[in-house]
Amino acid sequence: MKIMIELPERYPNVLFYNPRLVEVQENVLIGDRTRIGSFTLLHAGATIGDRCTIGSHCNICCCEIGHNVSIQTGCHITRGVTIGDNVFIGPGVVTLNDNLNGDELRFPTIMQGARIGGGSVILPGVTIGKGALVGAGSVVTRDVANGGVVVGNPARSRAFGFQDSPDTN
Ligand SMILES: CC(C)(COP(=O)(O)OP(=O)(O)OC[C@H]1O[C@@H](n2cnc3c(N)ncnc32)[C@H](O)[C@@H]1OP(=O)(O)O)[C@@H](O)C(=O)NCCC(=O)NCCS
Repeated sequence: MKIMIELPERYPNVLFYNPRLVEVQENVLIGDRTRIGSFTLLHAGATIGDRCTIGSHCNICCCEIGHNVSIQTGCHITRGVTIGDNVFIGPGVVTLNDNLNGDELRFPTIMQGARIGGGSVILPGVTIGKGALVGAGSVVTRDVANGGVVVGNPARSRAFGFQDSPDTN
């Protein structure tokens, strides 16, 4: 069904950078004070929390996005993804739910406070733990532990100077 009502009327508490350049399908929940960029498509059934930023040129399928989440320009958030509160997703991140090997669909989960570097690819069924960091351009094929830091293709855990030394914890 085509929705003819203008977006500011449907979502008075949401800031659309340009409401004429966004498509929001039916049955999409968007929280208060969330901002939506231009040339972005929100698919039917998507749920987006309060105070989020969804950048321009994003494709947001039927998924669950928590509060205070930032999704930067040009991301593909595939069907069935769950994103916790306070997650940061850099530009050009792609999430996937189909391994193309005949298995059933498996949906990525990105837990609260995680940060995903720009250009990363998150494979089907992967869970990124709370507060974890995925370096830019990573291909994440395995779960990432809470607070873990992974980089590369395939993404592997690596110690960086900005992390607390285990001796000081
Ligand atoms: C992972 C990250 C946080 C590490 O930053 P850092 O502590 O300053 O790391 P350094 O630049 O000192 O690099 C340390 C080593 O890790 C490697 N490295 C750093 N980032 C990497 C990445 N994304 N993928 C693969 N290797 C990486 C470096 O090549 C270097 O390797 P070497 O010691 O063998 O030469 C950072 O590189 C990163 O990817 N940040 C995400 C940026 C982003 O996407 N922001 C989005 C908003 S704009």
